[in-house]
Amino acid sequence: EGKSYEYLNVSTPRPGVGFIQLNRPKALNALCTPLILELNSALRAFQSDNAISAIVLTGSEKAFAAGADIKEMKDLTFANAYGADFIESWSDLVSFLKKPLITAVNGYALGGGCELAMMGDILYCSSGAVFGQPEIKLGVVPGAGGSQRLTKAIGKSRAMEAILTGDNISAKQAGEWGLVAKVFDSPQECVDGAVKTAEKIAGYSQIAVKAAKEVVNKSQDLGIREGVEFERRVFHGLFGSKDQKIGMGAFAAKQKPEWTNE
Ligand code: HXC
Repeated sequence: EGKSYEYLNVSTPRPGVGFIQLNRPKALNALCTPLILELNSALRAFQSDNAISAIVLTGSEKAFAAGADIKEMKDLTFANAYGADFIESWSDLVSFLKKPLITAVNGYALGGGCELAMMGDILYCSSGAVFGQPEIKLGVVPGAGGSQRLTKAIGKSRAMEAILTGDNISAKQAGEWGLVAKVFDSPQECVDGAVKTAEKIAGYSQIAVKAAKEVVNKSQDLGIREGVEFERRVFHGLFGSKDQKIGMGAFAAKQKPEWTNE
């Protein structure tokens, strides 16, 4: 709103919900550098907008994203890649984002597209979605977290199989293996479902939502003991919030809480 992008459609479909659609149809949303920079900029704008509490990222019916832009990468040298820290701008995508991100995948999510989808806090897809890390077929390996996030999500043996063969992962497998939280029957239902979930999240205390995302994310980096200790500290800290008083007070009084985000 206000700002227009070459490779994105950006809107606010519901109160509190920021919506980003990748829009580079001729290349199946291949993630060229200008697109990634725009995506960073749109995410940053939502991050700093107090009216936005949760974000949905999707692509088209045919492709969430068919990967990093192979034509852009093909002539890259080691010195270019290493020297300019190619892909570093991608890691930005998740590290600054404190608001929940729901990725809604329809069609292809391959290579960098699969990696981008896995950067979401919640991943949804529709029954025709196709995931994969086909980098091996191009003589490289995943470069935006795929080997780490896919392995954490579906386990070592399945991730090894996918990454070493380059074979796709179907929506059905993604659902059964827990790569995605839900598999919807159609692309429209998938996008609507993501927006609905984002709206539900936006209806809670944003202090609690931020803390919830933070404690779950810690589980990806910490051992169970340190993770549980971290969680307890955050839990204790929330007794200093107004919204804890409002939430528990409303329950006891059989009323609906009116969150202050304080
Ligand atoms: C650049 C791409 C692209 C990509 C598709 N296109 N994927 N361009 N980079 N990753 C372009 C095609 O060249 C073509 O352009 C147009 O999009 C339509 O694609 P088609 O191949 O004609 O469509 P289709 O036959 O339906 O096949 C769909 C597909 C196939 C199976 C998804 O496009 C494909 O295999 N794409 C590459 C998938 C891949 O290898 N991804 C990993 C990339 S490596 P023209 O001009 O011919 O019409 C990677 C590394 C990440 O992501 C590392 C960290 C970021």
